[in-house]
Amino acid sequence: MTTRPLRTRVRAVSPEHPDATLIAEAADVLKAGGLVAFPTETVYGLGANALDAAAVAGIFVAKGRPSTDPLIVHLRGVQDLAIVARDLPPMVDRLAARFWPGPLTLILPRQAAVPASVSAGLATVGVRVPAHPVARALIEAAGVPVAAPSANLFSRPSPTQAAHVLADLDGRIDLLLDAGPTSVGVESTVLDLTVSPPLVRRPGGVSVEALRDVLPDVQVASRPAAAAQAGAAVDAPGADVAGVAVQDVAQVAPGQLLRHYAPRATLTFIVGETSLSRLRTLREVGARLARGRSVGLLVLTEDAETLAPALQTLSEAPLTRMSFADARTSVRVRSYGSHHDAAGAARQLFDVLRRLDAEGVDEIVALAPAPDGIGLAIHDRLTRAAEGRVITVD
Ligand code: TXA
Ligand code: MG
Repeated sequence: MTTRPLRTRVRAVSPEHPDATLIAEAADVLKAGGLVAFPTETVYGLGANALDAAAVAGIFVAKGRPSTDPLIVHLRGVQDLAIVARDLPPMVDRLAARFWPGPLTLILPRQAAVPASVSAGLATVGVRVPAHPVARALIEAAGVPVAAPSANLFSRPSPTQAAHVLADLDGRIDLLLDAGPTSVGVESTVLDLTVSPPLVRRPGGVSVEALRDVLPDVQVASRPAAAAQAGAAVDAPGADVAGVAVQDVAQVAPGQLLRHYAPRATLTFIVGETSLSRLRTLREVGARLARGRSVGLLVLTEDAETLAPALQTLSEAPLTRMSFADARTSVRVRSYGSHHDAAGAARQLFDVLRRLDAEGVDEIVALAPAPDGIGLAIHDRLTRAAEGRVITVD
């Protein structure tokens, strides 16, 4: 399939009990070399037959994704691993038993059947078995491994709802299976088993703490290496967070491009002890207002409540170059969850980020829950979105 429809077909499908006819329709598109966006438990994926180089090429075109960024291959189960990967280390069995199906991607030596383009020319391949019933039914019906990056345009936040997929890819892909919002909200954890000790290249839906139960020596790659080139004063989100030793990676890993989750607005991420980071937030907001910039705050409900009175005063202060009326509407506070529920915050992060961006603010100032558990993935995504504008306050 080389030509794409003007509009993408959208099919509503039950997230728990997907209709077999709809799944067969989507599987036929994949078998014919087409592109299908489908829900996984993490984010929506943009699927193609992983063994069909032409179909895979279509993914890169539809997303506007550089061919240097490798794709994840999705399997129906561990029984298919040998089709796409080889020289499996013994720890694969233990990891698969504990975390599959689920939000864990393993980097393994690539089997020749998988076109090199899937892995951006690397000798390795990223593999996972998704848990979402629609994803599982689709892969089963297609009868082939399914290569699927997140179903967003390159540099846009990953899609957690069908509307996000359509906003980015309508007319660029054949079919979208809409099963409502995804449950995890951030992408899978990427664990590289081709290096020793095993290295988390991207924190995600499976926490480092949980991985450590199975593999005590797991290391975590430092923040995206490209951050160092971004120029601004940069601080990593904790060099040693929650007892997780951070190992510096010499090479920029493929797919670790910093500008991966970038909103249109300029985003600044403030990291550190809660009350200090709130104080710093006020200072940063004040500075932006004084420059006549509109500001969106991407924070948790507790931050929003604590900051409300001071923000009110700030936007009424005569320091700003704006008129009084402009200033009052120039700070938008959007909460993506609670400090006490990092999983809930992860679920809402990309949606609230997209909404705030769509409101057309010039700048976004972001706060996050503590960088442990799934909070580490939130820190990673906000650090990337900030493109180096990370301020550490303690
Ligand atoms: O949760 C997810 O992982 C989602 C759903 C759809 O499964 N997929 C996803 O794919 O986030 P994508 O393409 O947006 O991110 C895949 C990332 C790459 O950018 C890269 O960082 C890493 O996974 N990756 C994949 N294959 C790799 C390889 N062979 N070596 C190193 N990193 C790899
Ligand atoms: Mg992606």
